[in-house]
Amino acid sequence: MSDFKNWWTKSTFFILLLLITISGTYGWGKEGHYATCKIAESFLSEEALKAVKELLPETAEGDLASVCSWPDEIKWMYKWRWTSELHYVDTPDFRCNYDYCRDCHDSSGVKDRCVTGAIYNYTEQLVTGYNASNSVVKYNLTEALMFLSHYIGDVHQPLHVSFTSDEGGNTIIVRWYKRKTNLHHVWDSDIIESAMKTFYDKDIDVMISAIQKNITDKWSNDISSWANCTSGEDVCPDPWASESIKCSCNYAYRNATPGSTLEDEYFLSRLPIVEMRLAQGGVRLAATLNRIFDPYPPVTQKLAYFGNIQRASHTI
Ligand code: ADE
Ligand code: ZN
Ligand code: ZN
Repeated sequence: MSDFKNWWTKSTFFILLLLITISGTYGWGKEGHYATCKIAESFLSEEALKAVKELLPETAEGDLASVCSWPDEIKWMYKWRWTSELHYVDTPDFRCNYDYCRDCHDSSGVKDRCVTGAIYNYTEQLVTGYNASNSVVKYNLTEALMFLSHYIGDVHQPLHVSFTSDEGGNTIIVRWYKRKTNLHHVWDSDIIESAMKTFYDKDIDVMISAIQKNITDKWSNDISSWANCTSGEDVCPDPWASESIKCSCNYAYRNATPGSTLEDEYFLSRLPIVEMRLAQGGVRLAATLNRIFDPYPPVTQKLAYFGNIQRASHTI
């Protein structure tokens, strides 16, 4: 083999390896984001679905879920590197609570640069940008929709709201059954992948159907409180982040110290938490998009989605 060919093969291999490594460190994995957005699509009102379809890029072919991992695909490009700290929020070590003012900043201390700040920002862009009376649209609403959908998924991944010095579990090396991985990756991808293999015919759509069934059966009394924001705001990522840090402390970090081997006991006890967080992320993404794009639905339609509580501010 010529020197050039040899160099080219090696470089390609290392670049691929690097991309695979980097891509594993942010957000739910591809499956988690796909599930969150598929669940959301099924709860969108007609008006909101129409608005979403109009904003989606052509490559999405009308399917929001197909572009929900886009922010993960672009975050290492030079143009988009500034977005990479918007996928998570870190709390001080061993503090099992979250406080926007204390925690929402980037590693240089710039305020509002974290996942909850990003959710507020992109919601605001869509609300102001989509208002027909604003003749000059300052924002790229297609990008805003894709970022918002992705970050609402991320804030529901417990380890995206977790301790600073272990980088959300990225530096906690563990074994998942026989394979070496890190705790963050276990929660982004390994639990979902093992669940697909063990219970869902290796098919994400089968897993999504099972979560949908739980939403309409087991969690039917909870969905309006999930969808609701207490004081009638369009979006409320702070309580969602508070739930995530509690899940990190009670389930993700518990019994998962550096060097642990995680297997059946950890997998089977944590899978219900992962499935509930995917369900909550999906229901809340839909409720947020319904409030942005369809703020005054007819009463009959209001009751058809999450009950009348989430839109209480519009009913009076
Ligand atoms: N890097 C630092 N903290 C992180 C977190 N919580 N999630 C993902 N990546 C991180
Ligand atoms: Zn992400
Ligand atoms: Zn992640």
